[in-house]
Amino acid sequence: MSSKASRILIVEDEANMRRILSAMLSRDGYKVETAGNGRQALELLGKGSFQLVVSDLRMPQMDGLELLSELRRRGMACELILITAHGTIETAVEAMKNGAFDFITKPFDAAELKIKVGNALRTYEKRQLDAKLTPEGADRYNFIGSSPAIRELCRILDKVADSPTTVLVTGESGTGKELVAQAIHRHSARADKPFIRINVAAIPETLLESELFGHEKGAFTGAVALKPGRFELADSGTLFLDEIGETPKELQVKLLRCLQEREFERVGGLKSIKFDVRLIAATNKDLEAEVAAGRFRQDLFYRLNVVPIHLPPLRERSEDIEELVPYFIERFNKRLGRSVEGITPGAMAKLRAYRWPGNIRELENVVERSILLADGHILDVENLPTFSRHGVSPASLGESSPLGAEGRTPSSLKQVVKEHTRRVERHVIQQALGETGGNVTRAAEALGISRKSLQMKMKEYGLRNQRSELKQNRGDLHS
Ligand SMILES: Nc1ncnc2c1ncn2[C@@H]1O[C@H](COP(=O)(O)OP(=O)(O)OP(=O)(O)O)[C@@H](O)[C@H]1O
Ligand SMILES: [Mg+2]
Repeated sequence: MSSKASRILIVEDEANMRRILSAMLSRDGYKVETAGNGRQALELLGKGSFQLVVSDLRMPQMDGLELLSELRRRGMACELILITAHGTIETAVEAMKNGAFDFITKPFDAAELKIKVGNALRTYEKRQLDAKLTPEGADRYNFIGSSPAIRELCRILDKVADSPTTVLVTGESGTGKELVAQAIHRHSARADKPFIRINVAAIPETLLESELFGHEKGAFTGAVALKPGRFELADSGTLFLDEIGETPKELQVKLLRCLQEREFERVGGLKSIKFDVRLIAATNKDLEAEVAAGRFRQDLFYRLNVVPIHLPPLRERSEDIEELVPYFIERFNKRLGRSVEGITPGAMAKLRAYRWPGNIRELENVVERSILLADGHILDVENLPTFSRHGVSPASLGESSPLGAEGRTPSSLKQVVKEHTRRVERHVIQQALGETGGNVTRAAEALGISRKSLQMKMKEYGLRNQRSELKQNRGDLHS
């Protein structure tokens, strides 16, 4: 591995400390640059690729934690090690939760620093490798499958990826819309510029405008400092507006104006800001129907629908399942440390016949769970979850694997499997409760366990509040 040539950015406001750190790591053969504060660091990070940031926690202007969240917000992949003075361990733990690789307390030990730097760089490389392994067997866009739909998709991508055109990706949940957006960005001239995503549905309406366009200092209570919005962050890169169909009407007007004029104002600001952003929008809604129903502005729809890409549901290209399953088996073997070699024709037939309302994401989860629970080397029908008639599988996990994005070495395989099993169990219970509107007796029946043990599990997994929430939601629906 080439860790020695790795680039490290040191962020530290004390000049002396900066020099010491820099000298120590340079001596080890790393390419080191330094910044005196978070802002400066972001500037440098924007210019060149670093594998690791070693940052002090307490700094004027932007502290280490803020720097970390900015890094993540901008989708930068580098690892971060935080250096803290005594008494701020809680903060360091907080940082770890937010994705810092590790922390070191001052005064630190040179050996400890070297070890942690080495670990962080190895993790970084492993992660990059994982990302490179993913397209194995796939074409250059990372899409598994050779159905006419996928081939057509690649043909369109070849044409549009490297143009500044706006793309609207539609398709049911889990069909790969985000994957398409990323592929477009990666194959455009903007590939080394930021890819910024905003999920319109996941942000409360009141915050959405300032998330998109940023706000000036003092624009509203709590706006203690100027904040750039996603349009600014994505400048010269790609902005992915996910779940665009959920945009509130008022904001649709502002968005349209911004796209027409190619400029916007921050919330509470007067100055118009120009931007150069390639736009990709996605939705699982039928936007034309939304327009017809008066929920989505027609003019905005036309602005976005320049190149439409529709991803058909998996059930309409079930031949792709034949390629997706081996691909996922290999991936989860690696992640879970298993050695499942394949799947029986009977089990494959069952997968092909299923409706897949959650599409590829659901298939991915079913394969993951089956591998986890299988004891043999070949997946057979009995390793698959029981698919209900409504096409709802109890196995849709909804979340990524515990070994997923963090890429951190698990404590032990046993621990991982235990954690995973717990997650599966929690999810299945959650789903049963959802389907029965929080009715414990009926959920227990559906799960084939006693009411009492379900109650104990619910307590264990903290699902009791959820139950009243579900009931309440039901009440809302029926009122
Ligand atoms: N053709 C494909 N080959 C391999 N993996 C795929 C393919 N399509 C989708 N996936 C995987 O399926 C999962 C779901 O894809 P993605 O998140 O892009 O779907 P989505 O359409 O954005 O879903 P949602 O509407 O729920 O946000 C991801 O893990 C993605 O990597
Ligand atoms: Mg998505």
